[in-house]
Amino acid sequence: MCGIVGHLGPRNSVEIVMEGLKRLEYRGYDSAGICFVNEKGQFSVFKKSGKLENLQALIAKEKIIARSCIGHTRWATHGEVNDVNSHPHNSEDIALVHNGIIENAEEIRTELLAEGVRFQSDTDSEVFLGMLTFYTQKKKMGLVESIAQSFKRIRGNSAFVILNRATSEIFAVKRGAPLVCGINEISSEVLVSSDPYALVGVVDKLYFPEDDIICYLSAANKNLLRFFDLNLVPSKRYFSKKQEMSFKASEKGNFEHFMLKEIHEQPELMRGLVQFYFHGEGKDSLHGITQLRPERIIISACGTAYYAGLVIRNFIETFNGVSCTHELASEFRYRKPLVNPKDLAVFISQSGETADTLAAQTLCKELHVGTLSIVNVEGSSLYRQCDHNLLIRAGIEVGVASTKAFTQQVLTGRILSHVLAGHLNDKEKTNALIYKINTLAERVDSLLVNSGLIREVAQQLYNKKGFFFTGRGPYFPIALEGALKLKEIAYVHAEGYAAGELKHGPIALIDHEMVNIAVMGEDLFEKSISNVQEVRARKGIIVVIGPESHREEIKKISDHAILLNLEGLGEFSPLFLNIVNQLLAYYVAKCKGTDIDKPRNLAKSVTVE
Ligand code: AGP
Repeated sequence: MCGIVGHLGPRNSVEIVMEGLKRLEYRGYDSAGICFVNEKGQFSVFKKSGKLENLQALIAKEKIIARSCIGHTRWATHGEVNDVNSHPHNSEDIALVHNGIIENAEEIRTELLAEGVRFQSDTDSEVFLGMLTFYTQKKKMGLVESIAQSFKRIRGNSAFVILNRATSEIFAVKRGAPLVCGINEISSEVLVSSDPYALVGVVDKLYFPEDDIICYLSAANKNLLRFFDLNLVPSKRYFSKKQEMSFKASEKGNFEHFMLKEIHEQPELMRGLVQFYFHGEGKDSLHGITQLRPERIIISACGTAYYAGLVIRNFIETFNGVSCTHELASEFRYRKPLVNPKDLAVFISQSGETADTLAAQTLCKELHVGTLSIVNVEGSSLYRQCDHNLLIRAGIEVGVASTKAFTQQVLTGRILSHVLAGHLNDKEKTNALIYKINTLAERVDSLLVNSGLIREVAQQLYNKKGFFFTGRGPYFPIALEGALKLKEIAYVHAEGYAAGELKHGPIALIDHEMVNIAVMGEDLFEKSISNVQEVRARKGIIVVIGPESHREEIKKISDHAILLNLEGLGEFSPLFLNIVNQLLAYYVAKCKGTDIDKPRNLAKSVTVE
């Protein structure tokens, strides 16, 4: 998805915006650009398709001092990837950058053309600029009024950041897309972005506006930040919090990739989650949901978060004895689901900005179903739209392929299950859960320092034709998640399958070039072994990721065995085995030489449908 950044303040705005765009590279993009008010008081615009370094090279030759700048990394939706279609789009007096889609752009473009407005690009974003030009020049409206009028007219999820040349003020507004403002009162700087990560190290307070709220940013006379609704009435519809993200947390440190760093962060994050919910400020969130007694739970999410939901559904059925359905948000949002106000709809999302998940949540709200988020970004749209929220406390996840967020989502789901079962005040049960999570953290710590075998297996198999990840019961979601990781970062064809399903057709694909990554634990172990036998009988290459306690039996039927001590982990065994999948995907991708942190075609947060 596109990344947008705007800065006003006494320091060099271009440097700050370029640094912000660099932080947003992980979201995926295909061109980049900036616009600032130069020393002559005019707009200077630099924009280039391709990587950020192309833009960097373009401006490196210029000696730039600017106090107001907006920037953009574009993930093309309307209009091909080229310099003209890159953002910012500008007239003589107004420049803008856009994240999202204007669904009724073509009808508006036609109307504006008839009014004599002309366009340079094929983008829907420039249509918004055309509206602003029309209202300010033809209708003689003020800029903020023009923004309000134009924003009321467009349909679709969008966020805009708009720079006024004459006053060096910035306006920002959004609907169904991420936007966050930040201020540093000491240095009189104000920033706005589509991602809090771009503001790390510059601001100390964050403001998350709600939909249809216009943010007014000015560095003149410490005005800094004001909020209005679309009728230009001052508004308090925003969520604010201290900037907690530390600069070092957002850097790779000694790791070659963010993904590897984030895999290694998991044990500490697990312990941090226990601390937060059972000994820290998270206790209030748990007490806030102890009264919930849903008759049914509906879990809805996308991608990795959807697979985390599958693991959580097992917890709900095992520990709560409550019916639990599990839905792909992109499908659920278009259904006419039979839901009941006594249900609880749980939405899982790392970013809290995934369009399909937000739409599914909106549908449930319209059907008067209580909603709860399991989310990483506090202040995100999902966080603000849900009745209850459980933060997963994963910190910034830069790697596009989600690793630590998956683990934290599952653990937070287990804590939710613990609370809904009425066990929060049961000291024995709570201590047992805490002990199990801490044991998991210890096991992962030791696995991470002994991952040599995983790397060797990856080096031997990375060129194979395809991979079937299989699992049964609680290990089936781990097979799905393992396959997704490999697809995402190694661009290898991989499928996750219920082990018992192979014989119903897919086994036709098995030959000596096909790898079966069989994920198994104590549950349904014998069944899992017989599924492996079926593949082995057809010359498939067998990799078992399973329990150390069955070493002999597994060694007999596998070409490679990655065995772990699952003793005492109970319902967290699948999570532990999944760390192997994360590392396997990482090492296969390293062998393939792909862009591990920013895989092709992918975006970190899919804010469009
Ligand atoms: C995970 O590795 C992927 N990047 C993707 O499937 C992701 O989980 C999905 O887009 C949902 O994102 P969210 O958790 O931010 O809602």
